[in-house]
Amino acid sequence: MKYFLRHPFKALKAYLPKSLFGRSLLILLAPLFLVETISAYVFFDNHWDNVTKTLANTIAGDVATIVALYNTLPEEESFYKFLAGTHLKLRTDFIPEETIPTSLPENSRDSFLDIALKKQVLTPYTFEITPKEIIIKAAVDGGILEFTTPRKRLYSKSFSLFIMWVAGTSAFFLLVASLFMHNQVKPLRRLAIAADRFGKGRSFPDFKPEGATEIRKVTKAFLGMRDRLHRQLTQRMDMLAGVSHDLRTPLTRMRLQLAMMPPSIEAEGLQKDVEEMSNMLEGYLMFARGEGLEESRDTDMSELLIDAIESRAQPEKTVHYTQLSLPVFCVKPQALKRCLMNLINNAARYGNEVWINTFTDNDFFTISVEDDGPGIPEEKTEEVFKPFFRLDPSRNMATGGVGLGLTIARDIAQSHGGEIKLAPSKEHGGLRASLVLPY
Ligand SMILES: Nc1ncnc2c1ncn2[C@@H]1O[C@H](COP(=O)(O)OP(=O)(O)OP(=O)(O)O)[C@@H](O)[C@H]1O
Ligand SMILES: [Mg+2]
Repeated sequence: MKYFLRHPFKALKAYLPKSLFGRSLLILLAPLFLVETISAYVFFDNHWDNVTKTLANTIAGDVATIVALYNTLPEEESFYKFLAGTHLKLRTDFIPEETIPTSLPENSRDSFLDIALKKQVLTPYTFEITPKEIIIKAAVDGGILEFTTPRKRLYSKSFSLFIMWVAGTSAFFLLVASLFMHNQVKPLRRLAIAADRFGKGRSFPDFKPEGATEIRKVTKAFLGMRDRLHRQLTQRMDMLAGVSHDLRTPLTRMRLQLAMMPPSIEAEGLQKDVEEMSNMLEGYLMFARGEGLEESRDTDMSELLIDAIESRAQPEKTVHYTQLSLPVFCVKPQALKRCLMNLINNAARYGNEVWINTFTDNDFFTISVEDDGPGIPEEKTEEVFKPFFRLDPSRNMATGGVGLGLTIARDIAQSHGGEIKLAPSKEHGGLRASLVLPY
């Protein structure tokens, strides 16, 4: 409540619709509702009072006339009764010996009818308004006259009829408007879904720009952007693959020439370098080949994870993992398997045992791979993602690979809209590498 008083607009915002459709509808509905209520209240309340006043005056006039006639010529009673019944819609009954109570019932005092009767009927009177009829009693010589007339004579029906018409037609047009509005919002919603899928590296069906000009423009710009990005990506990959491939031939030639040279320390060193270079090229080629071409499809993460664990490079190392049923994701299964394998291979290579866990929350799905190895110092957690970067500067092939594993893993995670996070493993002392994927 305090918050509401201090920030009324912010607090109100929490209750307002969030979607474009809801907001547009509210913008349409709010003025309509206000105009109708104000006009109904100001104009028709006034008008209705006037109409009721006039009708009350007519009834009072009719009653006063009959009462006056009765008091002057009581012997002509049946004639007035006849006149009142046929022309004034007043049924008249004479009740002898009865008197009028001195005060009116509380709820009828000061109503329009009371005011009108007071003005025109000069004898004591009383009246009662039932759901169907109005019964007025007035004192005359020797008894009272009771007049009964339909309630319709006092209350005009047009007011409620008017309200019903206005509300009914407004509701109808609002329904029509909301249908049109829904169609206007549809292309925007589709664009949002496509953009979301694109960000997560999933494919989406091609669609035509539709709807309002602005939305069409945004859709066109988005589709153009997607095509340009696609082109850029394939171009980059093609170039990379081309360079790596072309370098292979001279490298092979060098390796052959080295093999034919007489053995020496220099030749041995050179041979190691050539070996490392060809390993790097292989890694590059694998990276370039795998990316971009694969299509996303619904994949059971549990099966994918088991597959990655079973295909690890060092099957003799223990992997602790309790199989759970995991969600199905729309991903590139080959690429994602490679990403997971890189993390698992690292953990197995630099540690003795591997622990794998999965976490699910509202926005993200996480697979964490932990080991009991030396871990990665905090200041190096960014650097290890660089291509060919290794913590061990000797680049000894026995202690590590070419240094592309994490680069590739991050690239794959990001192409799925996700991320690779590195942190020290609290439980096992080594590294904790997590693959985080958005839902
Ligand atoms: N689980 C880990 N524990 C300790 N250090 C690690 C771990 N994972 C990676 N590193 C360090 O980060 C460096 C980069 O890892 P990355 O996977 O990119 O390359 P790599 O394992 O050396 O070679 P590749 O994976 O290409 O065969 C590694 O050389 C290693 O020094
Ligand atoms: Mg690696």
